[in-house]
Amino acid sequence: MELYYLIYTSVPAKPMNDAELQELLTVAREANSRFEVTGMLICLPESFIQLIEGPKAHIDQLYQNIRHDKRHFRVTTLREEPIIQRFFPDWSMAFKKEDNTDTLEGALDLHDEKIFRLFDIIEY
Ligand SMILES: Cc1cc2nc3c(=O)[nH]c(=O)nc-3n(C[C@H](O)[C@H](O)[C@H](O)COP(=O)(O)O)c2cc1C
Repeated sequence: MELYYLIYTSVPAKPMNDAELQELLTVAREANSRFEVTGMLICLPESFIQLIEGPKAHIDQLYQNIRHDKRHFRVTTLREEPIIQRFFPDWSMAFKKEDNTDTLEGALDLHDEKIFRLFDIIEY
């Protein structure tokens, strides 16, 4: 089946606490494993950035669910494309949370290779 990836940003409906994020991730990772979806979620105080990748039919279905999720709004696609290889083959959903967003660059640990890869993809 065709492999596909998609990156979007959205705005949290309200700031999510650690317990809420943990719950979201536990459910998402379990479902992602079942549907061969991998990727990465970055949580900033005023935005989410997420990359999801997997069989196209599963990504279409998941993105539809995500778009309708009341925990966030203004879901905006940044990039979507078929791919030959996954960016995050080992992660049912890698996760990075950053509370301090003075500047995006300062906020995210740019030594973190996974973040680097995500932003490489966005700018590419
Ligand atoms: C920021 C954000 C990221 C999410 N990421 C995933 C994900 O990677 N995988 C997943 O199955 N659900 C994810 N969800 C949850 C989905 O929006 C949705 O609740 C889930 O697919 C179940 O959908 P259903 O209740 O319509 O069956 C995410 C939700 C939010 C708010």
